[in-house]
Amino acid sequence: MPRAFSISAEAIASERERVGDDLDAFDVARVIELGELTLPAMGAGDLRLRILAVSAEHNVDHAALADTMNIAEARGGRIYPGNSAIAEVVEVGNEVQRFSVGDVVITHCNGEPDAQGYPLRIWAYDQPDSIGWYAEEAVVGEWQVIPAPLDCGLNLWEIAAMPLRAPTAHHLWRRAIGIFRLKVSQAQRAQLNVLGFGGGVSELFLMLARHEGHNAIFCSGNPARRAHLEGLGIESIDQQAYNRFASRDDVRAFNKQVKSMTGGEGAHIVCDMLRGPVYAAGLQCLARMGVNVSAGWQLDTSCKYNSANLSVRQITVDHVHYETVDGANAATELYGKVFRPTVHEEIYAFEDLPRAMEEMHQNTQTGIPIVRVAEQMPDALKGLIP
Ligand SMILES: NC(=O)c1ccc[n+]([C@@H]2O[C@H](COP(=O)([O-])OP(=O)(O)OC[C@H]3O[C@@H](n4cnc5c(N)ncnc54)[C@H](OP(=O)(O)O)[C@@H]3O)[C@@H](O)[C@H]2O)c1
Repeated sequence: MPRAFSISAEAIASERERVGDDLDAFDVARVIELGELTLPAMGAGDLRLRILAVSAEHNVDHAALADTMNIAEARGGRIYPGNSAIAEVVEVGNEVQRFSVGDVVITHCNGEPDAQGYPLRIWAYDQPDSIGWYAEEAVVGEWQVIPAPLDCGLNLWEIAAMPLRAPTAHHLWRRAIGIFRLKVSQAQRAQLNVLGFGGGVSELFLMLARHEGHNAIFCSGNPARRAHLEGLGIESIDQQAYNRFASRDDVRAFNKQVKSMTGGEGAHIVCDMLRGPVYAAGLQCLARMGVNVSAGWQLDTSCKYNSANLSVRQITVDHVHYETVDGANAATELYGKVFRPTVHEEIYAFEDLPRAMEEMHQNTQTGIPIVRVAEQMPDALKGLIP
């Protein structure tokens, strides 16, 4: 039987009891448990995958902390997390058309598309009965995987960093630029000022903006990530220099810096991703007609605004979730050409996945954390392992 990580409501309750509900003392690694998994039976349209590598994702952090909701409890007491993977196809059902044994694929995490193709639910999070990919093997429907772009110029770890983050960045960008262009045409204003806060999704978002000729600014507290983005022509601001926007004076000083970097105008587009104190700073530094987008709510799930103030400035605040399946395919076309992600310096062993998640929670990593699941890699990937 393949091994798989899971999170149980019981383990969460026991860790919460240990730390007296103090989430700052909560150790995510203590609730992510390694066990064995009976895979679901293969259907005619299914594939069996051997997981090669996965990236650590924040929804697992939320599942372990049970901070936004207790998803393990809501799903019957246990979830099998992991919704970003690169894998080898080892078995195909009779009706599978697009894939054969030996193909290398990446996943998307759209668990159930709505009428427009957007996810009603996320795979391995709130999609009922979904089993995630922090496991040695998995069974998925053909519709859930995309051919891995092995000739895109990126190495295996860089490719593994993006199955969840790149579609999110792609969706955020097309929403943000689409909304802005509804208000201001290309003929009126070609080059925009685009700012993003922290994190792998924002980095990819800014790479899209830069690729399309806009001025891009990355505001992060992480020197390694800022240096990587500067190498790609993206300017940076140290978020720690503004105390992560702890006070109104910090927000004002940050706003002044953004204005000084944008000829007094401010940012036309802001990618927030965290809400909380970042949200106020992002709103303040917007130019007239600006658009604020976010697909994350790590620091707060609510946001307030003064409607009169935003109306007069013609500001739009948009709330985004994950991409459509078509959009995830389109994002994959941009691997290597536009998207060149930062990867954390340590590639974690499978057994160290809980530590990778805890270090992500502590925000001590230098890039996107990758876990190597398979020791034996397919021949097609041997040249892609640095
Ligand atoms: N809806 C979706 O489909 C979707 C998809 C992907 C991600 N998300 C969400 O989006 C958020 C970002 O994801 P990601 O994958 O880009 O994350 P990531 O690569 O792990 O980066 C997280 C970033 O959060 C920043 N951060 C942590 N604590 C902070 C604080 N107290 N104040 C300000 N910044 C802080 C860090 O920025 P510094 O570099 O400044 O330290 C870090 O770089 C997460 O909450 C995630 O759940 C949503």
